[in-house]
Amino acid sequence: TGFGRIPGPPKKPIVGNMLTVDTETPLQSLMQLARELGPIFRLDMMGTPMVVVSGASLVEEICDETRFDKAVRGSLRRVRSAAGDGLFTAYTQEDNWTKAHNILLPTFAQRAMAGYLPLMQDIASQLCMKWERLNVDDDIDVVHDMTALALDTIGVCGFDYRFNSFYRRDYHPFIDALTRTLETCMVQRGLPFEKMILRKRLEQLKSDVAFMSKLVDDIVRERRRGGGDQAQKDLLNFMLAGVDKTTGESLSDENIRYQIITFLIAGHETTSGLMSFTLYFLLNNPDVLEKSYEEVDRVLGNDIGVMPTISQVSHLTYVQQVLNESLRLWPTAPAIGLYPYNDEILGNQYKVKKNTFTTLLTLMLHRDPSIWGTEPERFNPDNFTREAEASRPAHAFKPWGNGQRACIGRQFAMQEATLVIGMILQRFQLFDHQKYQLRIKETMSIKPDGFRMRVKPRPGRT
Ligand code: HEM
Repeated sequence: TGFGRIPGPPKKPIVGNMLTVDTETPLQSLMQLARELGPIFRLDMMGTPMVVVSGASLVEEICDETRFDKAVRGSLRRVRSAAGDGLFTAYTQEDNWTKAHNILLPTFAQRAMAGYLPLMQDIASQLCMKWERLNVDDDIDVVHDMTALALDTIGVCGFDYRFNSFYRRDYHPFIDALTRTLETCMVQRGLPFEKMILRKRLEQLKSDVAFMSKLVDDIVRERRRGGGDQAQKDLLNFMLAGVDKTTGESLSDENIRYQIITFLIAGHETTSGLMSFTLYFLLNNPDVLEKSYEEVDRVLGNDIGVMPTISQVSHLTYVQQVLNESLRLWPTAPAIGLYPYNDEILGNQYKVKKNTFTTLLTLMLHRDPSIWGTEPERFNPDNFTREAEASRPAHAFKPWGNGQRACIGRQFAMQEATLVIGMILQRFQLFDHQKYQLRIKETMSIKPDGFRMRVKPRPGRT
């Protein structure tokens, strides 16, 4: 078969393993297959081979950037219809990837985060104000509110635009266009007659992309003309002013548009999912919730009239452990795609041909018992004490992806999530009134499906 000894499930004629993977829940199918077949297995997607790797020692090999590169294929390649050669969907070899990477790296570095804090606080306060005004029997649609928060945060930090999600019942039309676009990119599977069957969707995609591009282009043009807030420390101003030191060039307006759409795509679902899963885990682990309250009370105090400072947010170390443990069990970017530059042999025995689509299944890497012990499914924030982190191999925890193509928004997302969870715990008691049983909804990312909770303001807050 050309795969050496890589195991795989039985194949059907023509479609191969296409039906082995559930269309609604492909990632959960892959998790199941990894449980049955082990740290590496292969699938035949209608003649196209795919290798899925989730064992820690094999993952270490595919994270070697001299051997493997990020693969922009399948649905990710289709996202280029909206995000073009923006950072997330660019090929590593494209000039614009290097250029934008060089220009944007400092704007996402830890040092830059203080500038975004007031904007993050602004949106987080809107969420808290909404929750403070709820009746005791009002349900919170957790994923909805966390998505609203994440979107609004990128809107203001990215380009000083307010989606004002907390002031509407539905999402801003831009978000509807973006959501439909991503759905259309995900449902296509490169099958025959697909273009005909999906004709309506593909026409909608065109008009959605045109709508999003115009909204963003208008903002960029206005800013170039000297309008908008020139002093605002948002990503757009950094991009307009930024020069790549190696080429002396700056980003084109088209590429800036792609980057803005990229931040919205790459940043909102993943961050919202992280905060939603974290609230789920807090509700289901009373001892962890107790310790988190204890830390929040010690670090932030009970005066809710003053916003947490940068230093306070960075001292919420237990909350950060909780967030990391949540990213371990349900990494909201649950897999990444890679390919080898040349023919490879993994683990001294598994042949992988040059260019083969290779999925790093983060979801199962994070449950490898050789790393996480005999109870890898147990929620345990102690996995992220400083000592525990220092004693683990480098590639055992990959929620942010790998190497130079890893997440540029990592510090941004962690600061936002720590601030928000901190502010929520400072203000509210949480109630799991429906005894929610976790179900995973899969889109580009993963989220807890149908998760609702209730809150009550904590007594003694001023
Ligand atoms: C890339 C995860 C939040 C912007 C990635 C990758 C992962 C990831 C796994 C690598 C994707 C791949 O290899 O194909 C996450 C998670 C987040 C998060 C789990 C939140 C919990 C954000 C935010 C932003 C962002 C808030 C921006 C504001 C990006 C960009 C890339 C990226 C631009 C592409 C980087 C490049 O290839 O140069 N992210 N991300 N992400 N992320 Fe994030």
